[in-house]
Amino acid sequence: MKVFAHRGASGSYPENTKSAIQAAVEIDVDGIEIDVQSCLDDYLIIHDTWLDRTTDGNGKVNKLTREQIQKFDAGNGQQVPTLQQVIDWVNNKTLLNFELKHTFSLDKFVDLIEGNIAANKLSQDNILVSSFDHHQLMWLKQKLPWIKIGALTASIPINYAEFAQRLGASSIHIDKNFINHTFVADAKQRGLLVYAYTVDKQEDIELMLEYGVDGVFTNYPCNTKMILNSL
Ligand code: G3P
Ligand code: MG
Repeated sequence: MKVFAHRGASGSYPENTKSAIQAAVEIDVDGIEIDVQSCLDDYLIIHDTWLDRTTDGNGKVNKLTREQIQKFDAGNGQQVPTLQQVIDWVNNKTLLNFELKHTFSLDKFVDLIEGNIAANKLSQDNILVSSFDHHQLMWLKQKLPWIKIGALTASIPINYAEFAQRLGASSIHIDKNFINHTFVADAKQRGLLVYAYTVDKQEDIELMLEYGVDGVFTNYPCNTKMILNSL
């Protein structure tokens, strides 16, 4: 079962920050999930629409510039990173799962991906783009047919995994609480991988293994890897 660091190693470091991302690289995870949002002039790595919970600032991310937001402390004196900074830090050492949080213009995003591939900072195999906004994913897949798509869901859709197959997704990312044997069997027979979020406790890790899940998003990647190695 693959281990993805959720918002970096966010159980031990401030989420979506350089320390959380670098720790995840050092642990040698299978991938790092980060949340991508637009501010006025850049792509930033931050989960919430508002700055309040994860920084000492306040206001709405999409109403401020990168310079304004990077003045705030996102934990232990660190800044909210830009997407480009994260790509530079990881430098193609592991897969990056970009979770596109809210609808924004994807043209610049496509340029950024293609530019980093040309610069060897990313490779096609090391990119996985997910979102709860399946329209965005569909648009992206049309622009970049090679891109690996992760279809996010926090529910069991009426036609099970059919929605992800229609998107041309390679994986479904589903809330662990909605996983059952029928859903996993349906996804697998459609050729889709199933990744569950957010899985931190041993009993949940064991349950995901029992369901035949292909990977987990965890806030504690080091501990999760240790548990998996011990089973
Ligand atoms: O990408 C998996 C998971 O992160 C989706 O939910 O709210 O933690 O971004 P959230
Ligand atoms: Mg996320």
